[in-house]
Amino acid sequence: MTPVSSALRTPVDAPLVLERCREVVRPALREAVGRMHPWVGEMAAYSFGWCEVGGAPAASSGGKGVRQALAVLAAEAVGAPGRAGVPAAVAVELVHAFSLLHDDIMDGDPARRRRPAVWKAYGTGPAVLAGDALFALAVETLAATEAGTSAVRMLSAALGDLVRGQADDLLFAARPWTGQERVRTAEYRAMAEHKTGALLGCAAALGALLGGGPPSAVAALDRAGRRLGLAFQIVDDVLGIWGDPEVTGKPVHGDLRERKKTFPVLAALDSPSPASRRLAALLESGADPEEAAVLVEARGGRTAALDEARRHIEAAQLALADASPQGTAGDELRALSAFLVRRDL
Ligand code: IPE
Ligand code: IPE
Ligand code: MG
Ligand code: MG
Repeated sequence: MTPVSSALRTPVDAPLVLERCREVVRPALREAVGRMHPWVGEMAAYSFGWCEVGGAPAASSGGKGVRQALAVLAAEAVGAPGRAGVPAAVAVELVHAFSLLHDDIMDGDPARRRRPAVWKAYGTGPAVLAGDALFALAVETLAATEAGTSAVRMLSAALGDLVRGQADDLLFAARPWTGQERVRTAEYRAMAEHKTGALLGCAAALGALLGGGPPSAVAALDRAGRRLGLAFQIVDDVLGIWGDPEVTGKPVHGDLRERKKTFPVLAALDSPSPASRRLAALLESGADPEEAAVLVEARGGRTAALDEARRHIEAAQLALADASPQGTAGDELRALSAFLVRRDL
């Protein structure tokens, strides 16, 4: 997947940046989860990779920590120490975990982060409850900060967008692949910006807000995070079809089986032709996801998706420059953006 990011390489090592930020945030995240009801807290800890089912300690991969890193780096970008962004980082990581717990139920995905999804490991009802508890804890975490009112307002707006995006994602699955009722790529962009971009934008904006940044920097970082989120979701779509399940931690072709209107497929069906009608019939039958993936690639869907992701990353980099990031945070944010669109590495 190098074509998206080859022009964006920087000397900063993004995995190291992610690790540094995870270390800054970990104690506060653990402390917050430690305040949950023990059973619900165990499900949260399982989803973060800290324990096995039953509570025995584990050191599993609990996710990349993209959103928490954005919050920490945004605080630094406005001249504050990274720790100023920690409550924002904790809140967005909790909301992200909540959204994944519920998303896997909605999508019927049995695996997440290379292990059984929480609903598979603990049951659907408990996973719904754990998601609700994570959400409540996120609000509580932000409400306790000095900028509480503005911060909670920002998080609520992002949550509203996330729900809107998830609603469209579910509704799109019932729409036909071809004809007037088909989902257009413009509709996809709005859906993906809502379901994924809003929280990444919120993560960066909240970090800058808690870091005492000016409104102009908060707004610019929000824009940057949103565009990054859109690129990130498109790459997630690509990985969902052609990614290595060992790397993604999720089964291959899940989106194709679930009739998800992902960007590569919509791009492949964009202009009606006998080939696109053949592809649509195959997708409709759900018979052969391997063959569908080959046809989507042959119709240019993979290339179109990667080009689209690159455009949004470039827009994210421009928005980032508008925030005039201080110190090394600008380079680190740029490196992180480039890394996030080559997640096959
Ligand atoms: C997965 O997000 C859901 C999407 C919005 C694409 P991540 O890829 O950031 O998930 P983790 O936290 O690293 O597992
Ligand atoms: C994830 O969307 C967005 C949210 C969880 C809000 P997807 O359903 O496309 O993400 P994955 O592929 O399951 O991680
Ligand atoms: Mg999903
Ligand atoms: Mg989903």
